Amino acid sequence: MTGIGSDWYTRAGKRISCSLVRDWPNVPVERAQGCYAYGPNGEKYLDFCSGMASANTGHCHPRVVAAIKEQSERLLHGPMGVLLYEPIVKLAEELATVTPAGLDSFFFLNSGSEAIEGAIKLARYVTERPAIVAFTGGFHGRTMGAASVTTSKSKYRRHYEPFMGSTYFVPYPYCFRCPLGLEPDRCGVKCFRLIHDLFDHCVQPSDVAAFIIEPILGEGGYTPAPPEYLAMLRKACDEQGIMLIFDEVQSGFGRTGTMFAAQGTGVTPDIMAIAKGIASGLPLGATVTSTALMSKWSTGAHGTTFGGNPVCCAAALATLEVFREEDLLNNVKERGNRALEYLKGLRDRYPSIGDVRGRGLMIGIEMVKPGTNREPDPTAAESVLKGCLKRGLILYPAGTYSQVIRFIPPLIVSEEDLELGLRILERAISEI
Ligand SMILES: Cc1ncc(COP(=O)(O)O)c(C=O)c1O
Repeated sequence: MTGIGSDWYTRAGKRISCSLVRDWPNVPVERAQGCYAYGPNGEKYLDFCSGMASANTGHCHPRVVAAIKEQSERLLHGPMGVLLYEPIVKLAEELATVTPAGLDSFFFLNSGSEAIEGAIKLARYVTERPAIVAFTGGFHGRTMGAASVTTSKSKYRRHYEPFMGSTYFVPYPYCFRCPLGLEPDRCGVKCFRLIHDLFDHCVQPSDVAAFIIEPILGEGGYTPAPPEYLAMLRKACDEQGIMLIFDEVQSGFGRTGTMFAAQGTGVTPDIMAIAKGIASGLPLGATVTSTALMSKWSTGAHGTTFGGNPVCCAAALATLEVFREEDLLNNVKERGNRALEYLKGLRDRYPSIGDVRGRGLMIGIEMVKPGTNREPDPTAAESVLKGCLKRGLILYPAGTYSQVIRFIPPLIVSEEDLELGLRILERAISEI
């Protein structure tokens, strides 16, 4: 690369951990607005990675920027507990009107991983039980507790053992790659039996504090869990006094056409971890539960210095206003239906696309080697991502082998930009 920004790589390589800088596509930008990011030499990118599913209202939404400016002149930092500021109170009140029924109490934190840590600690605290059961393929973050329940790729776990104790796994109900080799519509959700196997062989239900699951698997492959499976999990948790934790860090905040994916499945968890889109890109997360359960978490049992920062809360309040004023959920439904229909059409025409699935604007396109039994094809996925970037479209991979393409435009995406993105994607697919 030449021009402004070309030396940023060498400078970053010298001073910023290489663990952080070498991701895809890592293009230099100097500003971003709405669905577009702009490079320092006039480059223009249609960003359908949306700040990794965080810039749901698009980059730098004017209403969000105005709220940040205004709040930053009043109060930059509390922390809550030392100074009490209205934005955090108001945010909790407003969020309680959009979260699944009964989940109306919030512990604000700084990130998705922290929201997961909070969820795990809360579940252990209130049940006084040790074990946490997670799902193979799940991604919950990179702090030690969150990494302990993360299995989307083994590289996230390498050299970090020993992890948090009493952690168990059962296969995620990933229908395209059914753990029992069954076909989704005729399977009778037999994979749920694997949970009973776990109880029979590895851990008694009375020792389990929580199940933690992404209702739609994110990093692990962009695939929704069947609602029947989640309903069965809910029932098992109720019968055994186990907390059900939904990780809605990626699937939450309008991405799937309802404020949270839980609302689209008819299953309400006991605890939810939320982050990413809630403050349009500013660092904010929350562990969410019922007032009754939260009241059992005694003062000081958990804490934070920066969590619920006033500027982030102001950004989150403005984000909620954008949802209401621009009817974003409706936009997600309309654009999501169109995208899914278009992409399923591509699947029918291109044998290298094994599966297209998703809800709203959280869609996964899984690449396979044609003529094989669904053998994952990360090389094909990579060529598609490169072909898209060459034409100015940023997309991002997912899946254990990076064989899935995430299709996650900002939720404000217009019809024109969506069509443009879909056409570029089709061109790139047609070239492999
Ligand atoms: C489902 C899910 N949970 C947790 C996390 C961790 O969030 P963070 O990177 O903000 O710590 C992520 C991040 O991608 C995620 O997708």
